[in-house]
Amino acid sequence: MKSGISSISIYIPPLYLSHDDLADARGIPKDKFRIGLGNINMAIVPPWDDTVTMAANAAEMAIEAAGIDKDEIGLLIVSTETGVDQSKPVASFVHGLLGIGHRTRVYEIKHACYGGTVAIMNAINWVKSQHHKGKKALVITSDVAKYGINSLGEPTQGAGAVAFIISDETEFVHFLPGSNAFYSKDVHDFWRPNGSLTPMVDGKYSIDCYLEALEFCTKDLQENLTGEIGKKLLDFVDYFIYHLPFTRMAYKAHCKMLATLNPSLSEEQIKEIYNDSYKEKIKPALKGSEQVGNIYTGSVYMCLMSLIDEVGENLINKNIGIFSYGSGCGAEFLIAHIGRGIKQQAKQHNFKNQLMRRKKITIEQYTELYGEPVTSKTMMNSQAITIDDEFSRYIFTGIKDHKRQYAKK
Ligand code: CAA
Repeated sequence: MKSGISSISIYIPPLYLSHDDLADARGIPKDKFRIGLGNINMAIVPPWDDTVTMAANAAEMAIEAAGIDKDEIGLLIVSTETGVDQSKPVASFVHGLLGIGHRTRVYEIKHACYGGTVAIMNAINWVKSQHHKGKKALVITSDVAKYGINSLGEPTQGAGAVAFIISDETEFVHFLPGSNAFYSKDVHDFWRPNGSLTPMVDGKYSIDCYLEALEFCTKDLQENLTGEIGKKLLDFVDYFIYHLPFTRMAYKAHCKMLATLNPSLSEEQIKEIYNDSYKEKIKPALKGSEQVGNIYTGSVYMCLMSLIDEVGENLINKNIGIFSYGSGCGAEFLIAHIGRGIKQQAKQHNFKNQLMRRKKITIEQYTELYGEPVTSKTMMNSQAITIDDEFSRYIFTGIKDHKRQYAKK
């Protein structure tokens, strides 16, 4: 057995807004969001959910899915770009809420949407090192993607958390050693200055930065694969999953990857190859993005959850190409191999149930929830849309003496 991910769980907030309703309210043709961006619904956080509660909810489910005791965790990393404090890490709140032991290394990590991959790779290195002493790592990605009412990024909002247990021995997901390709460049494509509640974004430029990073990583990944195992990327990889700020990005990304590997082909020929491979290699991973939107650090791993839900045990022995991108920018293209452990994992997945239990909110309720920062007024008004939710085990209850308060339901 090899080190890697031994369990993975997701938490999606219980409310959503339909893109059709948003398009109507903004006077935009529905097809721009449905077809142009590929998005159908976006997750909306109620006032009792935030980066911390979503992280804790996902983490507890991952711990249960792994069948381990909280005492077995020796490392806890949270990756987020929507932290709740400039100093105290989200990981500390989660550590306290879950009641994980004190002999644990606990920290937060940031590199926009790429941070989740960095955290997973750090955790894998840790379980391979002498420091882990038989313990496991808990890695969580958690974000509320809010661009602001009426902003260009508004239809690409979303929220959610994905949690992973990383072990030195697992039969579920391990990463092909020596193949990872990296890319970094100092750019301002998407950023959130201190004090600003919503990000600033140069939308079109951010797509260009993403595709440039992908082109570099594709070339290096192909070279690494040739060097390590003498294989061609397109023959070796069965499914491709991409960081998805919006669902249609999968099309742009896959075409860019194909064009990089086949520079002599025309745009039309690339589109043909895309259309031929879309149903088998790309589509099975898109459901989460269509229904939830961008969850920043967890976005590419929500694709993995969708793929597991769609393909299940047939993923055994399959290789998955994972392209992780974070604005600023940093990127990594890596290959995951799925083992027999998926049989047990797939049974415990509740992603579909979480999507089904959500309540649709109106554009008026959305405007009230996202129109201004959460205050005691929005907390009170939100009582009207409270739903009994079995997946929301931890809730945010307000701020007292500048300290965020949380409770277990
Ligand atoms: N029917 C069908 N399609 C339509 C349409 C209609 N009526 N109207 C427009 N479209 C299509 C357009 O042709 C376009 O498709 P292509 O890109 O394939 O040409 C698509 O809908 C979007 O239209 P626009 O480009 O006109 O959209 P926009 O100006 O509103 O900007 C956006 C789109 C740049 C993604 C914007 O929503 C945005 O800034 N989003 C936030 C930033 C972002 O997501 N960046 C992605 C890369 S950065 C990253 O990945 C990190 C991260 O998570 C943020």
